[in-house]
Amino acid sequence: MKGIVISGGPASVYEEGSPQVDPKIFDLGCAVLGLCYGHQLIAWHLGGEVSKGEKGEYGLAHLEPVETAAVFEGAGGRQQIWMSHRDTVTRAPDGFETLGSTETCAIAAMGDAQRRIYGLQFHPEVVHTRNGRRILSNFLMDVCGCAQDWSPREQAARIEEEIRRTVGERNVFFFVSGGVDSTVAFTLCLRALGAERVRALYVDTGLMREGETQFVQGVFDALGGGVFRVEHAEERFLLALDGVRDPEKKRHIIGEMFVEVQEQILASGHFLEGNWILGQGTIYPDTIESGGTAKADLIKTHHNRVSGIQKLIAENRIVEPLHLLYKDEVREVGRELGLPEELLSRHPFPGPGLAIRCLCEDEERGVQRLEEGWLAPLHSVGVQGDSRSYRPVLLLEGSPASEGIHDLATALINRIAGINRVAAVVGSHAPVDELRTSRAYLCETRLARLRRADSLVRQMCLESGFENHVWQFPVIIVPLGTAERPDSIVLRPIDSVDGMTAQSVAMPAELLASMSAGLLAQEGICAVLYDLTHKPPGTIEWE
Ligand code: XMP
Repeated sequence: MKGIVISGGPASVYEEGSPQVDPKIFDLGCAVLGLCYGHQLIAWHLGGEVSKGEKGEYGLAHLEPVETAAVFEGAGGRQQIWMSHRDTVTRAPDGFETLGSTETCAIAAMGDAQRRIYGLQFHPEVVHTRNGRRILSNFLMDVCGCAQDWSPREQAARIEEEIRRTVGERNVFFFVSGGVDSTVAFTLCLRALGAERVRALYVDTGLMREGETQFVQGVFDALGGGVFRVEHAEERFLLALDGVRDPEKKRHIIGEMFVEVQEQILASGHFLEGNWILGQGTIYPDTIESGGTAKADLIKTHHNRVSGIQKLIAENRIVEPLHLLYKDEVREVGRELGLPEELLSRHPFPGPGLAIRCLCEDEERGVQRLEEGWLAPLHSVGVQGDSRSYRPVLLLEGSPASEGIHDLATALINRIAGINRVAAVVGSHAPVDELRTSRAYLCETRLARLRRADSLVRQMCLESGFENHVWQFPVIIVPLGTAERPDSIVLRPIDSVDGMTAQSVAMPAELLASMSAGLLAQEGICAVLYDLTHKPPGTIEWE
């Protein structure tokens, strides 16, 4: 062990039951870095003083660091940092030096170089702290004395060895999704065990993008013949989703159906005979989100942890080769294995597929004229405060490329109660005031329209290079239009780092014009809308 990082958290060191560290860690002679709450814990345990803040400090601030401190090596000068705290350290413990302050926080960084203990009130781990990565790297390399020797080549060899140990004489069966994780995990098993002992099954839900099943088939065929099979379940999924409007209900139905199909296959003779165990592409963050580590709260039950699979875990019939890796590390290992870049660098795509990009409505209603634009009676999901909202959308006429339009959208959402999204009308076959919602659900016709639209947008993004300017580009079909052309298409290009927050991105006017013309030429499509909403208050997906 070379170092310990004590993370941040919402508690106060004074609160009963707040997370604590064993103070003996400070006598181990090992380097320690405390962040935010961790910084306060260090002060509290080592005889400094922590004071309860009244208001707190949230957001951007500017730090003046002591440039000679090891953690600020090469990261000197007044710089932007990101703060999120209420309590503050008001006196550093004996032996500590103040290493940085901001206008409102006198001890924003402190350290005892001799004992190699450092505390930062700000968050070097978020992107808004300009030199955050440099500061963390200084701590790891210079203070702890770690070496940057993680290599995907060594990981692949280590993991293959671990697979052989875990699997023993048995064989491995995978449900693959065409995503990075399950494909990399499968490829490692294939290399470790040979083609006779691994099988991959892909469930076609009918909710995937155009050409997806063929793409996945192609990737697996290139790995070796006979290891891959498609289970056609399109009709079962569509039938279960018929007449359902509520987004969460749709997700739930899809999740349940997945489990049902998987459990049927796991209970079938083929799986039971021949000593098969299940392989999964679970990565480290999946385990955290399912409450798999000691302290993390349960955020959501990951699909890799449902009951049938828990049973296999209990019986020791599971292998998860990527369980210690993060996403970027999985991609690196994938490159080492020679998997196609097209697969490794794909934009994230939601598990429930196009189902949550196909808006459903129960009622037929017209748009309503407001002073600022038109209120469209389509419901989409948003995040406002800490909770989810499900509200109508405001439509604006005017170019989505015009100066200040994103700021206007934000201001309108703050001003008009009852909306969570603003979209610009890029083009329409009918005047906006003639647009109406129709009673519409998931059906083959609408999915086909969405698939065509999504494919056209993807093609144009790839050809123009715009693909590289966005983190994700959902295309959504909404039941708003006329009797002849009942649906419209929403373009939602966004930039993000991790999907938790996102900005709506402006698209080059020429590209948008030709994209819109292409979409309006499609059967059933009445208008093209451009989502101007950041997250928050909107979510990335509309459902
Ligand atoms: P939202 O819409 O919540 O999306 O801002 C954040 C990120 O999560 C993806 N997403 C999902 N992924 N199952 C998934 O596997 C889901 O149900 C789901 N819902 C949203 C979304 O595509 C974005 O990247």
